Amino acid sequence: MRNCCFIGLGYIGLPSALLFAEAGFNVLGVDINEEVIDNLNSGKSHINEPCINQLLIKNLRGKNLKVSNKPDFSDIFFITVPTPVINIKGKKEPDLKFVFSAVDSIIPFLEKGNSIILESTSPVGTTKKIFELILKKTGFKNDEVFLAYCPERVLPGNILYELKNNERIIGGINKKSSLKVRNIYKSICVSEIRITDARTAELVKIVENSYRDVNIAFSNELSILADELGINVYELISFTNNHPRVNILKPGCGVGGHCIAVDPWFLISKFPDHSNIMRLARDLNNNKTKWVINKIENFLKNNIEYKNSKIGIFGITYKQNVNDLRESPALYIANYFYNKYSVYLCEPNLKEYKNLKLFSVEDTLKKSDILVFLVGHKEFVDIKTKNKKTFDFCGILENE
Ligand SMILES: NC(=O)c1ccc[n+]([C@@H]2O[C@H](COP(=O)([O-])OP(=O)(O)OC[C@H]3O[C@@H](n4cnc5c(N)ncnc54)[C@H](O)[C@@H]3O)[C@@H](O)[C@H]2O)c1
Repeated sequence: MRNCCFIGLGYIGLPSALLFAEAGFNVLGVDINEEVIDNLNSGKSHINEPCINQLLIKNLRGKNLKVSNKPDFSDIFFITVPTPVINIKGKKEPDLKFVFSAVDSIIPFLEKGNSIILESTSPVGTTKKIFELILKKTGFKNDEVFLAYCPERVLPGNILYELKNNERIIGGINKKSSLKVRNIYKSICVSEIRITDARTAELVKIVENSYRDVNIAFSNELSILADELGINVYELISFTNNHPRVNILKPGCGVGGHCIAVDPWFLISKFPDHSNIMRLARDLNNNKTKWVINKIENFLKNNIEYKNSKIGIFGITYKQNVNDLRESPALYIANYFYNKYSVYLCEPNLKEYKNLKLFSVEDTLKKSDILVFLVGHKEFVDIKTKNKKTFDFCGILENE
C-alpha cells in the first residue's frame, strides 16, 4: 500500500485525501489550523459537500486516513493550500507564502523517489521555483525526486464527483515526473489525464478562470444594458445561447469565490500592459456589485412609500448551494444594507455568521416588504413573491 500526505485540508485537500484513502492509499492529512484537525478527528468536516462526512468517518475508522498538524515521511506529497492575492502598494499580487511554507514543512521528510504534486492554483513559474528550492535544500539531483503541477477544476457542491470525473492536466517539471504523477491520478480519475510541461499547465488553470471571469463580465454588462432597455436579460441570454456557437454565462450580483475573482490577478499583476480584457472584466464584475446597491437605493429614494421598508435579502454566499463566503459579492451587499436599513437575511446554507442574524425562508418572506434575491439557492426556486416589490439579481425567479 502506498502512502500519501496532503498538506492543506480545505475544499480541495480534504475531498482529494478521502478519494485516495478510498482508492486504498494510506493517507495522512495535514493542516495548520488546529480547529480543522480537531473537527476532522472527531468525524466532522468543516466543508459542506455531499457524502463528505460519511467518507471521513469510514476512512478514519478503517485507518486509511490519519489527520495531524505535522507532515511525516510519505511516497507522495500533495500541496493543497490557499493561493490568495494581497494588496501591495495598491496592486493585487499573488501571495505564495502558504505554498512555500507547505514546501518547507515537507522538506525534512523528503526521500529519493518521492513525488510532489502542487494542486494550488499558482502563477507561471511557481513549480520550477519549488523544484529549485527542493533540490537546493535536500541536495537531491534533479532525477531523484519528481514534481508536477496538477490544477483543480472542480465545482463546489459537487467536488467529490468532479475530482473523479473531470479531465486532468499534469504539468511535470520533466517528462518522468509527468508520467509518474499521471499514474498516481489514474488511481482516482476515470477521465482523460493529459500531460504537458509545468508552465503550460500553470497557465491553463489561470486562463480557464480568466475566461469565465471575462464571460461573466460580458453577461453582467448585458444585464445593465438590458435593464436600461427594459428587456429581461435572462430571456435575452437564453435566446442568444440558441446560436450553436454562443454560450454566455449567467449574470449575477458580481463575482466571488477564491478562484474566478482571484486567479486573473496572477497574470494582470505581472503583465499589466497585456491583460487589458482581464483587467476590465475584473472591474466590470466588481462594478456590478456597486450597481446592484445603487439600483436598490435609487428605488428607495424615488419611491417614498417604501422609505421605511423592511428588506429581505436572500443568499449571502459567493455562489448557489454552498456555504462558502470567500470574496462573496452578496455578503458585501448584505453587509452594506444590514448596517443602513432594516434587513432580514436568509442564508439556508449557514446556521449563523458573525454579527448577522439569519432567518428562515418563510420568516424572511413574511417579515419583508422588499425582496432581494442575490444567490440562486435551490431553497428559493419555488418562492412565490406575492406581488411584493422584488429584485432578482440571480435569475432564480425566472419560472415563477
Ligand atoms: N475550492 C475550489 O473550488 C478550488 C478549485 C480549483 C482550485 N482551487 C485552488 O486550490 C487551492 C486550495 O484551495 P481550497 O479552496 O482548498 O483552500 P481552503 O482555504 O479551503 O483550504 C486550504 C487549507 O490549507 C491550510 N493550510 C494553509 N497553509 C498550510 C500549511 N503551510 N500547512 C498545512 N496546511 C495549511 C489551511 O488551514 C486550510 O485549511 C487554492 O490554490 C485554490 O485556488 C480551489
